[in-house]
Amino acid sequence: VVDKYLFKYKNYNFTKGHTTAEYIDSLQTFEIRDSDIFLVTYPKSGTVWTQNIIISILEQDTGLPAYPNNFEQMPWLEYKGGNEDYSLRPSPRLLASHLTPTLMPPGLKNKRAKIIYVMRNPKDNIVSYYHFCNIFAHWETPKIGGSSWFDHIREWHTKRDQYNILFLTYEEMVLDLKAAIIKICSFLGKNLNQVVIDQIVEKTTFQNMKNDPKANYEFMPEEILKGQFLRKGKIGDWKNTFTVAQSERFDQILQERLGDMGLKFIWD
Ligand code: PPS
Repeated sequence: VVDKYLFKYKNYNFTKGHTTAEYIDSLQTFEIRDSDIFLVTYPKSGTVWTQNIIISILEQDTGLPAYPNNFEQMPWLEYKGGNEDYSLRPSPRLLASHLTPTLMPPGLKNKRAKIIYVMRNPKDNIVSYYHFCNIFAHWETPKIGGSSWFDHIREWHTKRDQYNILFLTYEEMVLDLKAAIIKICSFLGKNLNQVVIDQIVEKTTFQNMKNDPKANYEFMPEEILKGQFLRKGKIGDWKNTFTVAQSERFDQILQERLGDMGLKFIWD
């Protein structure tokens, strides 16, 4: 038992009332279509940002049905919003997920469906998650939802060859949003002209997203989320929270847990 808000299943903390162990198991037979587009992240790595970019790109195809907001347009696979049956969604289906590879539908290994994976430097990631837990209804709990960040990063990176996957970092998006959008377009096989790309860049900047009622998550009910979901949107905010000793300790843990992987992070 994790606590009253979360339940642990297969090494992952799920939100109670929003999913069940049976549903998570059913993902093992979830039918994947070649046209599916998945966005996979560890929480607080830039999910809703990338979600907004993917939706904005796909919206250029007139066939994409309109939904009231990005959360309904690209729902979380593991949380089946409002008990929706995703098999009834028209193609291309857009789905977000924080799951680790073992919990994901094995059909994704057909390598035709696409996965965009976004990673953020773990110090900013943890600070963002810390603030989120203060606004999220589950803030009372010492445990957080999801897997361990280290497991998520290791598993997705080591299994990358099994999937059709594009790896991006939050930091590269902050440093050059346009280049990141072009990368995503190219991965999705969308050849958009410069004017449209510039419009998408404009639409997905931190400030514009913050004012976009479809994308800023202020549509979430207050009992689930109070406060600003788009908080700072910066690289290096961890320096305002970590002490030097904590930072050094963190570097040591990172080295112990993932040092063999040779990952490079942008810290500021
Ligand atoms: S969640 O709960 O997992 O879906 O959260 P996630 O969307 O992954 O992460 C939230 C952080 O992403 C920042 N964000 C942005 N940064 C820059 N530009 C844009 N457009 C943008 N949109 C969201 C958001 O502010 C959270 O980071 P912090 O550091 O807390 O500000």
